Amino acid sequence: MSFRLQPAPPARPNRCQLFGPGSRPALFAKMAASAADVINLDLEDSVSPADKPQARANIIQAISDVDWGKKTLSVRINALDTPYWYRDVVDLLEQAGPRLDMIMIPKVGCAEDLYAVDALVTAVERAVGRTKPLGFEVIIESAAGISHVEAIAAASPRLTAMSLGAADFAASMGMQTTGIGGTQENYYMLQAGARHWADPWHWAQTAIVAACRTHGILPVDGPFGDFSDDEGFRAQARRSATLGMVGKWAIHPKQVALANEVFTPSAAAVAEAREILAAMEAAKMRGEGAAVYKGRLVDIASIRQAEVIVAQSDLVGAA
Ligand code: COA
Ligand code: MG
Repeated sequence: MSFRLQPAPPARPNRCQLFGPGSRPALFAKMAASAADVINLDLEDSVSPADKPQARANIIQAISDVDWGKKTLSVRINALDTPYWYRDVVDLLEQAGPRLDMIMIPKVGCAEDLYAVDALVTAVERAVGRTKPLGFEVIIESAAGISHVEAIAAASPRLTAMSLGAADFAASMGMQTTGIGGTQENYYMLQAGARHWADPWHWAQTAIVAACRTHGILPVDGPFGDFSDDEGFRAQARRSATLGMVGKWAIHPKQVALANEVFTPSAAAVAEAREILAAMEAAKMRGEGAAVYKGRLVDIASIRQAEVIVAQSDLVGAA
């Protein structure tokens, strides 16, 4: 372990981020009533160019008018290669009021992208006298984004979360698929004539988790496009949770319960983690650093592993 302690990520639940287009204001109250921890009102790719100004106005009004409860409220702005993003930032900060917690910046490709948005946000915040600093979350969804992921994770103190955006990522990488996350039919190994499917998103997810954990940021799995496939969503989400991600997007309300289910540690997992902590406490009393729990080794590292599960359970229990 480096002498530098790993920073803790923000202590807020992020099991599910529910998206809805800013051009469909009829959805906003339903989103607020959902069980998602985070709400993402979208100005980007679910809104057509002609609808951008109206979507901005809808979102600005809803930020103050809708009761968002304890949810983290975020607006996905347009990407920095569009003519829309600066107006998104300026109008939100000048007109939306203090309830807005974060903006999500899509298609981030380098640390300087965050520097640029931070400079604009900081100037407008000062101009309007906003005292609650606006948080950032980003989407890694390009070849440049994944290549520079560690520098991006370190780029702004406003950054709290980072998601993998599977569709744009696949397009940018030139991947031969139109699927948004999940199993890809042609990504398999052959063994004795039998196909074994592997996970083409795995390395990008792991790179994101490592960058996030290094800098105290929440790693999040992005969309799973086939909202008719509950088991496919669960399988993808379980892999993400196993790799260290804390939550997943929902692009349809029926995915909210699935994400909450997977990213809430099960009662059995929490009970086992507490038993491991108790076994290690008993070992400590005996002056030992290692012990046997259900026939397997547990040692001081097991305490840290068990504490991850207990801490996540406590966090969502308090939500
Ligand atoms: N949030 C909350 N409620 C939603 C919702 C959302 N994102 N999408 C749909 N609903 C509601 C519908 O209004 C409907 O409510 P009702 O039962 O009261 O009538 C119910 O959920 C079922 O909706 P359904 O008919 O299955 O969906 P749809 O055809 O209206 O919309 C999508 C489907 C995929 C177009 C829509 O869910 C959507 O726009 N999702 C988000 C897309 C997005 O933001 N993408 C950007 C990030 S990748
Ligand atoms: Mg995208």
